[in-house]
Formats: sequence, structure tokens, C-alpha cells
Amino acid sequence: MTLKTTVDLGNRSYDILIGENIIDEAAHHIRPLLRRAKTVIITDDNVAIHQLPRLEKSLTAADIQYNTITLPAGEATKSYDNLEKLLDKLLSMRLERNDTIIALGGGVIGDLVGFAASIYLRGINFIQIPTTLLAQVDSSVGGKTGINSRHGKNLIGSFHQPRLVLIDVTTLETLDPRHVVAGYAEIVKYGLINDPAFFNWLEQNGPMLIDGPVDECRAVRTEAILKSCEAKAAVVMQDEKETGTRALLNLGHTFGHALEAENGYNDGLFHGEAVAMGIILAFQLSEKMGLCPASDVKRVIKHFDLTSARKISAFDFNVENLLEHMKADKKMSDGKLTFVITSAIGQAYLSNDVDMNDVKSVLKNALKG
Ligand code: GLY
Repeated sequence: MTLKTTVDLGNRSYDILIGENIIDEAAHHIRPLLRRAKTVIITDDNVAIHQLPRLEKSLTAADIQYNTITLPAGEATKSYDNLEKLLDKLLSMRLERNDTIIALGGGVIGDLVGFAASIYLRGINFIQIPTTLLAQVDSSVGGKTGINSRHGKNLIGSFHQPRLVLIDVTTLETLDPRHVVAGYAEIVKYGLINDPAFFNWLEQNGPMLIDGPVDECRAVRTEAILKSCEAKAAVVMQDEKETGTRALLNLGHTFGHALEAENGYNDGLFHGEAVAMGIILAFQLSEKMGLCPASDVKRVIKHFDLTSARKISAFDFNVENLLEHMKADKKMSDGKLTFVITSAIGQAYLSNDVDMNDVKSVLKNALKG
């Protein structure tokens, strides 16, 4: 069964389709969107092993022409250098304005390819086929694209909405399980922002989603992915360019990005792992500010423990460095940092009135661990 939700943005609206093995019927969903039956698939060398042959087979059977570009897997691929190489390859393939790019992979591929699509010939259509949990529930939806620079993560980018998002839950079964646990943080995030009933549901079903028996696991993953995409779509439809409420989706990210920066943006700490730690820190900060009950903070920590999240106390981070990284974050406005804080589970809000001494003390405590 294929489930569907729509991101309604006028003439830039698009569907998100979710199903088991949907990648094998990708051409059926892609064809109606093509202005010319010519595409370029861009993927990474891990995804190319298991998922690329499935997509290529589907396109071939439907007589859709494609070229494939395979990039190295890993966060380092989201660079100026790879952007330039990618654009150069697209130009030498003589891809035209009416052609379509397909991003097949996780958040790195989706962000880089989306950005390339947004500037290639001043903008070309692209389709997202996210293959990691993090990309399926967050980064493939909503049109944020970009690359990293030596000044920080995602600081160069654009808003460029895909024409379609195709989510195949079976792609999660060939992933390193660490990626599933990491992506799960972005699912928990939606419950913690404004949907306490969803958080309750995750308390019941989270462990099954992480590593339950295959049939039950697929069913729970499908339900959680749909719910997450609906939540994200609702926010994006309200505030596509993040002038306000969309920033709530950054719960845990101000802390998380600082942890990633301090770790050198390498695979020793995945984005989702840093977000899980960042969400806990955001709750601890909210408690420290006298806003969130301690019992809610405990529930959040317990839930991340039960679903195998990595702990910040296992890292030897320097608090002063973390504070410096936070100040370089793009969420600075008028020299002030915006934090997502909470008054309870499901009641998150934005504040740029946070005392950095509280932030420091929360980080110190957490790192003592
Ligand atoms: N990942 C947060 C957003 O798309 O706004």
C-alpha cells in the first residue's frame, strides 16, 4: 500500500509517497512529472550498491533515459569542491532546463543535489528519493538545500522544493543500524515540539521501530515516517522560508550543530546523534530556566536511552569551544542566538532571551555525565 501526503505550496506543491518497495515502481510515479524523458540520478557509493540497481531497472523498463553520477559517501561530500564538480558534470552531459535530476541517498546527497538543482541553469526540477531515516523524515521534505563551508554547516544554500519525494521503507534495512538510531531523533523531535500524543505513541513503539522483527518494524516505521512528513509539511506550508515557526524544527539543533562542529563534522558523530544530544540539552536548558518540569526532562532522557541513542557524556567536548561554535550558527539574529526551548513535552517555542551562563552550566553538567 502506498501512503501519500502533500506539501501544498501553490504551483510548487508536491506529493510525498511512502511505501514498501516503492523504489521498484519509481518510474510509474516519476514519469508524469517529466517534461522530457531524460534524467540524471545522483547518488553515493554506498547507496549505489543496494538501491541504485532497483531505480535504474525501473527507469529502464519505462524507457526513461538516465545517466548516473556516483559521489563518495559522507558529510565531506557536501563541499564547494563537489558542488563544482557536480555542476561541471551536468553541464558536460548537456542536461537541459526541461530535464530532471533525481537525488538518491541520504541527507548529504539530498542537500547537495538540491542545491545544484537550484542553481543549474538558474533552477531545474529535482526529485528526492531519500534512503536514510533522517532524510525520509526531515531533510528531503521542505526544500532546504545546501553545502557546508569552513565557517559551518549548511551556511551556503537555497530553498528549492523537490517535485516529488518517494520514500521506500525497505531501504532502511540495508543501512548501518547506527543511521536508523540517528534518524530517529528527528522523529522524536516532532512529538516533542507540538504533539505529545505522538511522543506517547513513540514511547510504546520506538524500540520496535529501531530494531523489531521485519514486518512489525516496517509497519511502525511507515506510520512514524508518514506522521513525521505530515508534521513537517504542515510547518513548511505555514512558513516555507523560515521567517518564524519553521525554526521550531531546529529543536536540539543549536546545541547539535555545535557538537558536530567540535567533532569536526565527521562520521564519529552523525547529525542525528548530535540532534538527540541537542534535544536533551534543550530540555535541560528549559528546566534550568525554570520553564520545563524535571519529570518531562527525565521522560525524554529515558526515551532516548531506551532507543539506543548515544550519550554526550561519552565525548570529551570543550565547553568554551562549543559556545564559540554556537555563536557562528546561522540562527543568530541581531547578535543573539535563537533557542528552541520547551515548557513541557509537546510545547516548544522560540526564545532569543537565553542567558549564555545557563547554556554553559547545562553543557558543563551534561559533559560531567
Ligand atoms: N530541518 C529543519 C527544516 O527543514 O526546517
